[in-house]
Amino acid sequence: MRDFPTRYGNWAVVAGASEGLGAAFATELAKRRMHLLLIARRGDALQAVADRLRQDHRIEVRVLVLDLASPALAGSLSDATAELEVGVIVYNAAYVPVASFLELEDDALDQLLHVNVQGPVRFLRALLPSMRERRRGAVVLMSSLAGMQGSPRIAAYAASKAFNTVLGESLWHELCEHGVEVVVSCAGAITTPRYLKSTDRIPPGTMTADAVARETLDALGKGPRVVPGALNRFFAVLFDRVLPRRTAIRLMAENTKDLK
Ligand SMILES: NC(=O)c1ccc[n+]([C@@H]2O[C@H](COP(=O)([O-])OP(=O)(O)OC[C@H]3O[C@@H](n4cnc5c(N)ncnc54)[C@H](OP(=O)(O)O)[C@@H]3O)[C@@H](O)[C@H]2O)c1
Repeated sequence: MRDFPTRYGNWAVVAGASEGLGAAFATELAKRRMHLLLIARRGDALQAVADRLRQDHRIEVRVLVLDLASPALAGSLSDATAELEVGVIVYNAAYVPVASFLELEDDALDQLLHVNVQGPVRFLRALLPSMRERRRGAVVLMSSLAGMQGSPRIAAYAASKAFNTVLGESLWHELCEHGVEVVVSCAGAITTPRYLKSTDRIPPGTMTADAVARETLDALGKGPRVVPGALNRFFAVLFDRVLPRRTAIRLMAENTKDLK
């Protein structure tokens, strides 16, 4: 198989790269010889990831300190990538407030819609045109098993992940004929710092961020959707195709009832 720079272009952009899965995507892309543009709000954390990757992999790494909820996203991205041949783009950031829907503060809901829905839309519309023009590139959208059925106490988050799944699958088909590969990654639980703060229980199927990043990037060009991890693939089929919908939602509620 051709390497990533040859297959897609020299640069990768990772949105939400200062820790957790985004930092793991950056590391996995660096191992695949991609130069990196890393985006997040915390400049210090982002710079630490960038310094480590420059040192370990001898690649070029740029950082863009930016709130992905900001309407300035599209303009900032265009400026930051104007001279780069962007080959791989990963929208990893998400906001995950935990509460029943009516208890969620208006501000939290707005932030969720900005980061999880408007963010990926602006990100894709800023970066996809040049990839389509060059007739090569790859897109990763992070979704979740939570987006496959109703997920009480994370209802709006789950719905935002369903949005990303359907958007990504649609783009997989639209962009296929233009040489751009798209994959949606429907992950189960991942041991990221944020997730570990939200729970006292590690459910079956939980994976490391490194394993999820690797399986997701390996899935490019193989189909519209990947569920990392064999046990999670079993759960996905069980919840999506075998169980009655109401049972799947009740089981999900059991899973999310103790989230903090
Ligand atoms: N962890 C899990 O169990 C799990 C399971 C299934 C799917 N996922 C999906 O995997 C992805 C990563 O999860 P995670 O647990 O690693 O998430 P996370 O730690 O909460 O956030 C990941 C990154 O996004 C950045 N970010 C968040 N809001 C931002 C904003 N407004 N502007 C710019 N950057 C922002 C954070 O950096 P800053 O704070 O520095 O901005 C961080 O680098 C998400 O899409 C999530 O839905 C996670």
